[in-house]
Amino acid sequence: MGKPTQGPAANAAPTSPATTRALTIRDLPGPPGVPLLGNLPEFVRGGVPHRVLHAWCDRYGPTFRVKLATGQAIATADAKVINTILRERPDGFRRDSRMANILDELGGHGVFSAEGPRWRRLRRMAIQSLNAAYLREYFTTIARATERLKRLWLAAAVAGERVAPLRDLKRYTLDVTVGLAMGHDLNAVEQRGDGLHSRISLIFPEIARRITAPVPYWRVLRLPRDRRLDATVREIGDLVHDRFADAKRRMATGAPPTNFLEALVAPIEGEEAFTQRELLGNVLTMLLAGEDTTSSTAAWAVHYLAEHPEVQHRVRVEADEVLGDDEFAPDPATVGRLRYAEAVVNEATRLRPVAPFLFLQSLQDVVISGTARDLQVGRGTPIIALLVYGADRDTRRFPDPQAFRPERWLDDKTAAGPDTQPFLPFGAGPRFCPGRNLAMLEATLLTSMVCRNFDLESDTAAGPVGERMDFTMSPKNLRIRLRPRKVPPAAGTPRATTQ
Ligand code: HEM
Repeated sequence: MGKPTQGPAANAAPTSPATTRALTIRDLPGPPGVPLLGNLPEFVRGGVPHRVLHAWCDRYGPTFRVKLATGQAIATADAKVINTILRERPDGFRRDSRMANILDELGGHGVFSAEGPRWRRLRRMAIQSLNAAYLREYFTTIARATERLKRLWLAAAVAGERVAPLRDLKRYTLDVTVGLAMGHDLNAVEQRGDGLHSRISLIFPEIARRITAPVPYWRVLRLPRDRRLDATVREIGDLVHDRFADAKRRMATGAPPTNFLEALVAPIEGEEAFTQRELLGNVLTMLLAGEDTTSSTAAWAVHYLAEHPEVQHRVRVEADEVLGDDEFAPDPATVGRLRYAEAVVNEATRLRPVAPFLFLQSLQDVVISGTARDLQVGRGTPIIALLVYGADRDTRRFPDPQAFRPERWLDDKTAAGPDTQPFLPFGAGPRFCPGRNLAMLEATLLTSMVCRNFDLESDTAAGPVGERMDFTMSPKNLRIRLRPRKVPPAAGTPRATTQ
C-alpha cells in the first residue's frame, strides 16, 4: 500500500520504521546524463525510448532515476510499486501534468488527461460508450470498415502490389474511432490523396514531440508544423460542431446514446452541460487513445502472421471452421469464438506492446512498498511506470519467452504470479483502458479476416521491420504481399496503399 507521510517534513526527516528504510529519489542509481538536458538526448535518440528505458532498467535495477524534459523522474519496473501507483488514482497519483497541459493547449483535454471529479464524470461516459452492449450496436460500423479494408487489400493482391499495412490499418481504426466518437462515416480506408485522414495522423507524432521537447517554443513561436496542427484540430472541431446539433436533437428524445458525443450531450439531472471546448477535447481524446494504439497492435499481428506461415494456417483453419460462408466475423459473439486469432493478438501485444510506459506524478508525499525496498516519493515527483518490462524475458510466466507462440494464451497458464514482471499493456486500476474490449475486438476480427481471405508473405525490400515510438510503438518498414484465397471480385475496387 502507499502510505502518505505527514507533510513535507516527513520527506526530510522520515519517522516510521518503513520510512527509514525507504529509498528516496536521491538514493536511486541512474544514467549520468549531460549538462542541462540530462538523459533526454539519449532517451529520444533512435526513436525507441522504451528500449532505452528497458536498457537502463537492466543496468540500474527495477527502480532508477532519470532526468528528462520533466526534470528528475523516478522510473520503475517494480511490479508491486506500479500496481500501487496505478490503483491509487485519482487521489494519490495523476497523469503527468505536462501531458495534460499539452493536450489542453491543443483543445484535446478529455478523459485521458482529466483528474478528480471531472475525470470521474467523463470516465462514466467513456465506459458507457464502450461497454459490450453498445459495441454490439456499433458492430455495423466495424463491419463496414472491415469490408472496405478487405476490398482494398484484395485489389492490391490481385494487382500483385505490396501493401503497407500500418497506413491502411490506421485508416481503418480512424474510421472505427471517428464513428464511435461522433457517429460520422469518414471512410478514410477508401480515400486517397490529402484529406482529414492524412492530417489526423500528424497529430500523434506532434504531441509526442512536444511532450519530450526541452523548451515549449510553440507557446511563443508557431512553426509551419504547429500551424498545420492547429488547422487540423480546428477541422476536427468543425466536424464535432456539425455533429453536435444532430446529437443534441437525438438525445432530447430520450433515446439511448449511440456514440461518445451523444453520451456527452445527453442531459443528466443536476449536472452541468459540457462546453463546446470540452466536447471537442473529449472527442479528440477518443481519437488519440483509440486510433494509433489499435492500428499499431493490429499491424504487429499482421507482421507476425507474415513471418509465421504455420500461425497463419492455424488462424485460417479456425476461421474456416467458425465463419461458415462469411469472409469475416459478422458479429461480436462470433469474434468471441475466434480464440486462436485472439491469442495471436495477445502474443503480438506481449512481444510488441504499443504503450510500453506511462508518465505519472505523485499528488502527495508517500512511501510505497516495493518488491525489495520501499520507495519514498515526494509530492509532484514525475514517475515513469514501465508497464511491460521483462514480459519478453519472463521464463516462468512465458516459457521460451522470445518465441512467438500464440498457443501459450490458450492454456490459461499465463496468469501473473506474485514475482512475475509487470505486463500491463492496457494499464491497471481505476484508469485501466476502457477501450480494451473494442481494441481486442477490432484486432481479432482483422487477424481472422486477413488469414481467411489471403496468404501473407513478408516483403523486406524496404528494409528489416523495426520499432518506432511516436505516440505509440509501431512497426517501421512493414510491407507485405498478399495472395487472394478466393476468386477476385468485379473491377472497380479501390486501389491499395502501396509504397
Ligand atoms: C491495443 C489498443 C490499446 C492499447 C494498448 C491501449 C492502452 C492504454 C493504456 C496503457 C492506457 C492507460 C491506462 C492507465 O492509465 O492505467 C489507456 C487509457 C485509455 N484508453 Fe486505451 N488502449 C488501446 C485502445 C483504446 C481504444 C480503442 C480506446 C477507445 C476508443 C481507448 C481509450 C482509452 C481511454 C479513454 C483511456 C483513458 C482512461 C482514463 O484515463 O480513465 N484505448 N489505454
